[in-house]
Amino acid sequence: MDKFVVRGGNPLLGTIKVSGAKNSALPCMAAAILTEDEVILENIPQVRDIETERKLLVSMGAEVELGYGRAQHRTSIKCALLSDPVAKYEIVKTMRASSLVLGPLIARTGVARVAMPGGCAIGDRPIDLHIKGLEAMGATVSYDHGYLEARSPNSGNNRLHGAHIVFDKITVTGTEDLLMAATLAEGETLFENCAREPEVTDLAALLIAMGAQIEGAGTGTIRVHGVPQLHGARHKINPDRIEAGTFLLAGAITGGDLNVDCCDPSHLGALIAKLEQCGVKIDVGTDHIRVRSGGDLKASDISTEEYPGFPTDMQAQFMALATQTEGTTTVTENIFENRFMHVGELNRMGANITVNGRTATIRGKTPLQSAAVMCSDLRASASLVLAALVADGETILDRVYHLDRGYERFEEKLRGVGAQIRRMGDVFGKK
Ligand code: UD1
Repeated sequence: MDKFVVRGGNPLLGTIKVSGAKNSALPCMAAAILTEDEVILENIPQVRDIETERKLLVSMGAEVELGYGRAQHRTSIKCALLSDPVAKYEIVKTMRASSLVLGPLIARTGVARVAMPGGCAIGDRPIDLHIKGLEAMGATVSYDHGYLEARSPNSGNNRLHGAHIVFDKITVTGTEDLLMAATLAEGETLFENCAREPEVTDLAALLIAMGAQIEGAGTGTIRVHGVPQLHGARHKINPDRIEAGTFLLAGAITGGDLNVDCCDPSHLGALIAKLEQCGVKIDVGTDHIRVRSGGDLKASDISTEEYPGFPTDMQAQFMALATQTEGTTTVTENIFENRFMHVGELNRMGANITVNGRTATIRGKTPLQSAAVMCSDLRASASLVLAALVADGETILDRVYHLDRGYERFEEKLRGVGAQIRRMGDVFGKK
């Protein structure tokens, strides 16, 4: 298993570039299932979850080509034949977002078999709302040996039908999954209480380019008028707002002067407002954000919410910053039940954090010391890297494969702006 070795103390200076959003790219790749034509996606990040999704599509019979670097991070997907419309457990177990193929598979082929995702490190993550929505659209759902099988109605033309679906709870991939299913359903589907995340809007832009009729993406109410078929399209994936936010925090925590380039500042409103409350200087451009901090930062509380609130995917990284602000910060996690696994490791580095239910209390500012620490999930890993950038001495982060799921060349990008960070491969070469 690869490790990171990080020596703290350097302020980050210069320009760092943001890649395409993993959480947009995943549903957009799944959307290619909806047509037999070629779908070309640009600005696809080179991260492990994308490789997992490529394997998933290929295992179902799709042709997928991924090209990075000069090839503009472009992927071409052609699902002319879906010979095996099954999302196998071996793949689903490594990436819960594999459940995103459920909606497009049943819409395109009339049947989908998807391994049930298990729990994951940040808590039990059910897909009951995806299933409830598909049933409202006429699908019959059954369970067999750990697999969920969904079938569209046999009568008539084998298509799902439109429905009025009110989500009991706001779900990002649930909204995306059912949105894709509705594009090929017969009649109109009205969704209420939808996720408003930019990733949903990005997916809707691709679907519209493929011929779907969708109104209201990015709001709580989405209306879809189903069409008999979709065609190929070319689409550029949005910049990754969570990667951009992580770099903003890296600039702030190190007392640096960092230009976070190729991002969309309009997706980062909640984080920018919070950083300003902490005393960080922020200059917003059209596609870049400059972050400056002299090091004397004030505490400011956060509470995670659905977009446009403070993102749960930035909570762990913000907590690293909170260890370096003067005063007491409370961090309330409202989206996931068990998303405080970074706390123990931050405390091992000298932080003073206590957890009570969904709320963590961070007493700052405490000097951080290097230690051997363990990454437990994607964003927790980023939080530990941020802490290591200001810790005294050399921190060794184990299990960085979690980080590789969602950050492209993270250590190289940080090294480019002055961080002392290197990757150390396992002598046995195992992941
Ligand atoms: C997506 C993001 C993830 C982010 C999360 C919340 C992707 C690939 N992942 O995850 O990075 O942290 O949104 O912003 O885009 N829930 C149910 N039943 C369901 C579905 C969800 O109860 O059928 C609950 C979940 O347990 C959770 C909440 O709803 O408590 C929100 O989850 P959801 O928005 O679905 O997260 P994901 O889409 O899995």
